[in-house]
Amino acid sequence: MADAAEQRRLNYLARLGVDVWVPREPAARTEAAPATAIPVEASSVETASVETASVETAPVDVPPTQPTESSPQPQPQPQPWVAGGSGLTQDWPELAAAVSGCRQCGLCEGRTQTVFGSGARDARLLVVGEAPGADEERLGEPFVGPAGGLLDNMLLAMGLAREQVFIANTLKCRPPRNRDPRPEELRACAPWLQRQVELLQPGLILALGRVAAQSLLASDEPLGRLRGRAHHYGATGIPLLVSYHPAYLLRMPSEKAKAWQDLKRGMALLRREAA
Ligand code: URA
Repeated sequence: MADAAEQRRLNYLARLGVDVWVPREPAARTEAAPATAIPVEASSVETASVETASVETAPVDVPPTQPTESSPQPQPQPQPWVAGGSGLTQDWPELAAAVSGCRQCGLCEGRTQTVFGSGARDARLLVVGEAPGADEERLGEPFVGPAGGLLDNMLLAMGLAREQVFIANTLKCRPPRNRDPRPEELRACAPWLQRQVELLQPGLILALGRVAAQSLLASDEPLGRLRGRAHHYGATGIPLLVSYHPAYLLRMPSEKAKAWQDLKRGMALLRREAA
């Protein structure tokens, strides 16, 4: 019988559409995270002992191609992602004000408002998506549309409520008709996210989708090659994982199991960071 925490996770995974193998015998439990740690439930039925030892070297279990995640790629520029590398000095309120008045690229012309990001400003996990869509621009909050619903369930399956993490995007303004961000827009917007990382100092960054992954890693490798292993955010030493964008998972539910593998790796990294 699954205990209450396991049952809750199974329910979230069922909602995610991820089939979980449940052992007949109770699974061996890993140690609970210390009281001060992010409340990641340590007892995933299928994974528990898992990846704490293998995170850095875990094999890449990726398909060579991703149906729509492989659309035209921006040309990321190398960026000085070191501590303080944003060149900005604002604190959170100053940064939020600066973002809301930003005119660094043409997206400011058509926006109704910027989407700064939301969540705990002492979060250990920073989730980074691509750019606001119509719902996000209307409400001024990231990931509030259908993809956001799935993201919420992904986080809950990790044992985290949305309010416990910080959620941001590579772009703070909505591209017209939700087109892909342009390289110059990503370049113009990058210092804002970089400053958010500097202020937050998260224990883990989770980049969702090709745009966030390539942008944060200054890489042009396809998403399929970037996920499945741990990276670091520039020279900061902050671990960074790549996974599928929730909007893509809504279109390709068969990939949810792989996304769950990524999330489990994230849980292991957070546990390690909190230890
Ligand atoms: N997709 C994203 O990448 N970010 C959002 O905030 C919403 C949808």
